[in-house]
Amino acid sequence: MKLAVDEQRMLDGKEGPARQKAMDLLLRYGEALGAERLVDTNNVCATAGATTPFLRDFAAQHPGGLDAVFSEFSLDSAEVVKIPKVRAYTSHLQQGLDPAHAAEQNVAHELVQLYRNGQAYLGGLGLQMLNTCTPYQVGNVPVKGEHCAWMESSAVIYCNSVLGGRTNAEGRESAGAAMLTGKIPYWGYHLDQNRLGTHLIEVEIDVRDTADWGLLGYYVGEMVQDRIPVLNGIRYVPNLARLKHFGAAASSSGGVEMYHVIGVTPEASDMKEAFGGRKPMAALGYGPAERRLAYERVNSTARERRVDYVMLGCPHYSLEQIWEVCQLIEGQRVHADTCLWIFTPSAIKEVADRNGYTRIITEAGGHLMTDTCSAFGRVMPKGTKVAAVDSAKQAHYLPAIMGVQAWFGTSAECIQAALTGRWSGRLQ
Ligand code: F3S
Repeated sequence: MKLAVDEQRMLDGKEGPARQKAMDLLLRYGEALGAERLVDTNNVCATAGATTPFLRDFAAQHPGGLDAVFSEFSLDSAEVVKIPKVRAYTSHLQQGLDPAHAAEQNVAHELVQLYRNGQAYLGGLGLQMLNTCTPYQVGNVPVKGEHCAWMESSAVIYCNSVLGGRTNAEGRESAGAAMLTGKIPYWGYHLDQNRLGTHLIEVEIDVRDTADWGLLGYYVGEMVQDRIPVLNGIRYVPNLARLKHFGAAASSSGGVEMYHVIGVTPEASDMKEAFGGRKPMAALGYGPAERRLAYERVNSTARERRVDYVMLGCPHYSLEQIWEVCQLIEGQRVHADTCLWIFTPSAIKEVADRNGYTRIITEAGGHLMTDTCSAFGRVMPKGTKVAAVDSAKQAHYLPAIMGVQAWFGTSAECIQAALTGRWSGRLQ
């Protein structure tokens, strides 16, 4: 790979051992990918904390502490180096717990302490501690064409497709190296020719709420895997939450990192732009039968109608979604045998507090939580066997990670389950 002068300086160790290791990592990574050069980035989204089970044991036992965690897991270096301040503007993604709900999440005091130490350490390095899988909901909104280095599949697909930012799905190591150097290999979705559609999806039915968009995403992901679908025929312009659910579902049932919606997303004003004048590799339809198939697959683990736990906020809820839930739940009471947890970025919770939404949810017996989620943090109410979710992504992962059954439906059906303790949702 050809290095620029500033990159060579870092590789030669003239800017300290951490940046030297970061540049060495990017060089190895870029060469493995076949990249010819690096590109400047000033927008990194990454996890770098130590609150997940394996990392917290490592952090607790290693004399090098959090520098050792960063060296090993964000720079692929067994040698512990002192980590300097980051060079690229960097947002921290989700964490393993919500410290304000440690008791409900059954999280030990030591882990909360580790979380707090991590916050201070990473904040000191200059990371923005947004602690959410949806940085684009709380101020990190790349512009079209901006080169980014993001982790988190649901955020990556949103960045590429809805915002027109340019990122591959980075790992912890490449994102760690990018934040220290402000560089990332120039390949994949950074290049124009790799952003063109490959599969045409003719949408033959109305797709309206977030659950519908989740089903469409789940179906499309399974069909196209890691290619680039182009949706045609969308009659109702989706909002942020609907595209968020579509992308999260498509990136979990398949490996979709970019899609286009004709007339909606920024690189798809028409078919010609979306496909770059090329013929699609395949054309698929999405009608009632495909929708039903997706519904059955997302609900494939659910058997018992009794619901122990309703989890909302995957990806983290927007303020609009919290507002909608409050309208459904205000003045009512969550069933005595059921828990309701809703996850949102802490910056949105601040506004929810101010608006009285947190009080409405709490008075109903639910909790508005931040920073983490059940699948990522492995946090659930004790004894949960059956969960209900409005996210196809969470329905995909929760049974696999936590061994529970999961019902999938609309947000209203989930709230109904929280209030009655039973699942009564069905495909409309
Ligand atoms: Fe976010 Fe957890 Fe879903 S990190 S995208 S809420 S699996």
